[in-house]
Amino acid sequence: MSTPTESNPLRTDLVNRAVPDPCVLVIFGATGDLTRRKLIPALYNLAADGNVPSSLAVVCFARRDKTSEGFREELGEAARKYSRRPVNDELWRRFAANIFYHQSNFHDAAGYESLGRELDGIDERLGTGGNRLFYMASSPTEFDAILENLRASGLSRAKAGAWSRLIVEKPFGTDLPSATRLNEAVAAAFPEKDTFRIDHYLGKETAQNLMVLRFANTVFEALWNHRYVENVQITASEPLGVETRAGYYETSGALRDMVQNHLLQLLCLTAMEPPADLGADAVRDEKVKVLRALRPLTGTGVADNVIRAQYTAGFINGRDVPSYREEPGVAPDSVTETYVALRLHIDNWRWAGVPFFVRVGKRLPKSGTEIAIQFRGTPPVLFNRQSQLQDPNVLVIRIQPDEGISFRMAAKMPGAVLQIEPVKMDFHYGTSFGKATPEAYERLLLDAMSGDATLFARRDEVEHAWKFVDGIRAAWQDGEAPRLDFYPAGSWGPREADELLAQDGAVWRRL
Ligand code: BG6
Repeated sequence: MSTPTESNPLRTDLVNRAVPDPCVLVIFGATGDLTRRKLIPALYNLAADGNVPSSLAVVCFARRDKTSEGFREELGEAARKYSRRPVNDELWRRFAANIFYHQSNFHDAAGYESLGRELDGIDERLGTGGNRLFYMASSPTEFDAILENLRASGLSRAKAGAWSRLIVEKPFGTDLPSATRLNEAVAAAFPEKDTFRIDHYLGKETAQNLMVLRFANTVFEALWNHRYVENVQITASEPLGVETRAGYYETSGALRDMVQNHLLQLLCLTAMEPPADLGADAVRDEKVKVLRALRPLTGTGVADNVIRAQYTAGFINGRDVPSYREEPGVAPDSVTETYVALRLHIDNWRWAGVPFFVRVGKRLPKSGTEIAIQFRGTPPVLFNRQSQLQDPNVLVIRIQPDEGISFRMAAKMPGAVLQIEPVKMDFHYGTSFGKATPEAYERLLLDAMSGDATLFARRDEVEHAWKFVDGIRAAWQDGEAPRLDFYPAGSWGPREADELLAQDGAVWRRL
């Protein structure tokens, strides 16, 4: 199958999607949560939809001592628990028959030699044609060893007439120097066109719909600029706390966990120019231009434009919950942020002067991710003479849950007195299309098997995003930082975040 991009700028492959080539998916670190919760359920659902290649095998590479039969059973239980559709026993049996467990240490060259032999054997038995998709789902501390062994064993080199690709799970580095180093290690083993850096937000249907909303409709794009837009608000809110991930989260915090990747990706899709075509590079070129135009936040700019905060004890979903510092594995004097709010500016022609407010937090009252485009008010004549009479238009793109789009406009309330009320036009994916939305990992695995990198982060994208985030972290560590604020679990974040918007005469939207 030809790759979907350079040779096919009209992307006819997206309309007439072919089932990808037969291949073997090798998951490094397959005993982790990601495989059970996301990867295997996603593959099972792709299989149930008839979207996987006729021959697909999965090799689970991990350290623990297990057998293929035993691991298939474990995965079967996980699929029953996490699959978006009920698992059909017969279909599962057929799908699971091609899952194999390969026990090895990530550092042991012999383990990769035996992997090579196993893959050749699978090619012969199942006709997988030498195509390999390597998925680094282990702890990031193992990435270097895996890459070096894939390179040294020759497994990363595509066989004649076949392909060899790499998927890298997040976090992709912890700052610019580490991300650059990782990019170098990746590049030593795989060409960029065969490298797929996961950001699961890009696989969400509604994130993909952003481009359709903007570039397949006449009305929105005409208004999508500083002349008509007052501000843009991007919110990702979660009622969950740090759960069992304190070890990771303590070294990460909300800025690196969510802003560097997911939220900057949503910002790019919202703000970018129309790409020249739908090819992976054209789309990613435009996203990179947004990151390059993002006004850097450093030094006192951070104090003025970034709020960082941590949750204290509170009440959420009907129960009392402890403070972040009381969570298992968290230092009692931790200054890790569980909430960040930022005021960003994109210094280009389209967005000059428009603030982009971005916030993300754990232990907030509701689960929801959305992008709200707040339009300017009408001229201050007629109905807008008294500002309290009329609320400006807002277009809300609900990324999750209840995926959809709503538009708030002003309408006259029936009756002899003039009363203008906001009303909503609302589109819900669920009711409009009447079919379940695929999970992000389904789309991303399918695209990686098809060689389409459009929904994956390119090397320069990741590095620009880290550069931006590193500027903020440097200021936090410098002592010029804004102090750490606090908010009770179950509230909408610290007061300081409301004050940040008030400076621009704005208020956060209630989800
Ligand atoms: C992950 C973060 O990347 O995204 C988590 O590490 C976060 O901290 C999660 O909870 C949110 O993803 P989703 O798809 O549930 O919005």
